[in-house]
Amino acid sequence: MLYERPAPILRRWLAGHSYDWIALGCAAGQKESLLAKKLPPPAIFHAADTNLALAQRATARIKAARKSYGRIDLDSHLASFPPPFSPRRLFTLFGVLPNLAPLPLLRRLSQKMRKGDLLLFSANLAPETSGFLGARRILPQYDNPPTRRWLESAVRQFRPRLDPGRLFFGVFPDPRQRTLARIEARWVSARRTTIVFSSRRPTPAQVETWIRLARLRRVARFLEPRREEGAWLVTR
Ligand SMILES: C[S@@+](CC[C@H](N)C(=O)[O-])C[C@H]1O[C@@H](n2cnc3c(N)ncnc32)[C@H](O)[C@@H]1O
Repeated sequence: MLYERPAPILRRWLAGHSYDWIALGCAAGQKESLLAKKLPPPAIFHAADTNLALAQRATARIKAARKSYGRIDLDSHLASFPPPFSPRRLFTLFGVLPNLAPLPLLRRLSQKMRKGDLLLFSANLAPETSGFLGARRILPQYDNPPTRRWLESAVRQFRPRLDPGRLFFGVFPDPRQRTLARIEARWVSARRTTIVFSSRRPTPAQVETWIRLARLRRVARFLEPRREEGAWLVTR
């Protein structure tokens, strides 16, 4: 399982040290709990998400001497981390990069990290050397009857003001990084087109460029056999 694979390296890094774990965009903490089963318990586990109820549920899943949770907006400046308690901190960021502008977020996180802190993040990938080719190959995972039904009902529920129209799926350049492939679901009506879902699909090489540009250093990389998802362990 991808989220457990970093555990041996993390155990070596943690040997003999206490650490704080800050779980970013963790929802109810399912992925963090997989990793936590393979790690010594942290001194502090802090769950941070825009959804406070989910962040609270995440704390219930993880064993730690002290636990806390809080609201965070990863799209703005990151002021709300608890003060560091242990000499080492582990930040995790699972399943978030497809939906938020990745390079600005990695840069903001990098600025918050101290020497020796680690960040473990996952990314949905385009399984080809060209992001656009790879994203087109996996488009049927999105453009299929169950996903269409799910999105159409979400549009009816959350976007009741949208004109009658239909869903169109495609691969487009990310508006902030034209070389980055983004799968989009667009609601197309006679009057306008609205993006109702998007997911960025970088290649591993693009992720590694972000790491360098954010002044981070790769410690390890884990790719799924189908190369549709990967996780990176990085430090300052
Ligand atoms: C796709 S879910 C991923 C959840 C979980 N980490 C996983 O991989 O299954 C994205 C999570 O990020 C949170 N989120 C979305 N936008 C956010 C933001 N701007 N700041 C912090 N969290 C955000 C959502 O509430 C949600 O829990």
